[in-house]
Amino acid sequence: MKALNELISLAQDTLRDNDRGGYTIPTKGLYPFQWNWDSGICALGWQTFDEPRAWKELHYLVKGQWDNGMIPHIIFHGPSDEYFPGPDQWGLKDRSLPTTSISQPPLLATIIRTLDEQARDQSAAAREVRHLLPGILAYHRWWYRDRDPEQTGLVVSYHPWESGMDNSPAWDGALDRVPRVDREYHRRDLEHVDHDQRPLQAQYDRYLYLVDFFKNNDFDSTAIYENCPYRIQDVGIISILHRGTLDLITLVEKYLPDEDINDLREATERTVSALPGLWHKGRQAYVNRDLITDKQIPVVTTASVLPLYGKLLEPDQARILAQQIEQWIDGQPCGLSSTHPDEPEFDAKRYWRGPSWLHVNWLITQGLQYYGETLAQEKIETASRRIVDDHGYWEYYHPLTGEGCGGSNFSWTAAIALYWILDPIRTSS
Ligand code: GLC
Repeated sequence: MKALNELISLAQDTLRDNDRGGYTIPTKGLYPFQWNWDSGICALGWQTFDEPRAWKELHYLVKGQWDNGMIPHIIFHGPSDEYFPGPDQWGLKDRSLPTTSISQPPLLATIIRTLDEQARDQSAAAREVRHLLPGILAYHRWWYRDRDPEQTGLVVSYHPWESGMDNSPAWDGALDRVPRVDREYHRRDLEHVDHDQRPLQAQYDRYLYLVDFFKNNDFDSTAIYENCPYRIQDVGIISILHRGTLDLITLVEKYLPDEDINDLREATERTVSALPGLWHKGRQAYVNRDLITDKQIPVVTTASVLPLYGKLLEPDQARILAQQIEQWIDGQPCGLSSTHPDEPEFDAKRYWRGPSWLHVNWLITQGLQYYGETLAQEKIETASRRIVDDHGYWEYYHPLTGEGCGGSNFSWTAAIALYWILDPIRTSS
């Protein structure tokens, strides 16, 4: 076990090493660009020791925003031949700065609210938030307009990578129905990480089919909504979007009091009314819905408990989820596994099928804290501290042994450790 000051400087060094002059790459080699939800988490870490750098991270992210409001999942700021599918694969859509054509869980508004509330330099924060807010408003309006044109209250996602939980078994059935791309290509991820931790080839062929599909449809929202062979109501995205919109409303009330945001308030009401549609009676859990088959997907993953983070629940429902977490984490000393251990697809080392992710553990504790569910919260916190103390900053961890897996010197793990794990240790030691 390392000393606290050693862990802090290691985490700061990880962010500095992965800093590309304004944006933070997740890790060298495997992920050499700026990723959307990673950046939000990185900003929290940067704020603990370099506040201007935290704001800069977000400015670099919104540089990639599309005219329709979408903030993409990857911004390809500079060239790199280490990643596939890179900018040449996604298509440009009249843009000079290449990006992907899908988004990622919209943490941004919540991150901005947190940075603002915790800023040491309040006048700089006010300036930054005023500058960022119009783009974030456009981003949330894009989600509700383009991804829920029928106003169901539950936005749709079009690619497993949009969920951020890329390789979750929850997507298997829906992805199996997507055709496989029939062109030759060369994967780069297997050059960086063992193949037993990465997706299978058949899955990769389908990921790529979807990338081509968006491009071939000229990124047209209506055509994609009607014809995309993969359409999911993802309880993770839905919860994170909802929480983000609540935080966005708070920011707008503070900084842009004349802005009419009734549309956003109505959107949140629709989501609250529609969420019960994702409750699976048999599994007694929230699950995702496949819109192609119009059936719930009965696979319990960490997304299933994110309605806690989304502040979407009544206290009695929150209690049920907290009890579920209390049992789930028993026997998992190194964090909540991304897939419930009772699922047949549970696989402790393959990414999103079992490993524990530090930032997801943090999101869930945020929800538990909000609902006063301290037992489950403490169990996750203890497990998360153990990982950082014993293993350092990996992309994800074996939930039973804590073995670090995936990329090493990983930015969002270091960042969330600085913001969350290392701070309470400091105050209690
Ligand atoms: C993987 C993860 C995704 C993350 C990205 C960069 O693709 O599944 O959530 O944003 O890596 O860290």
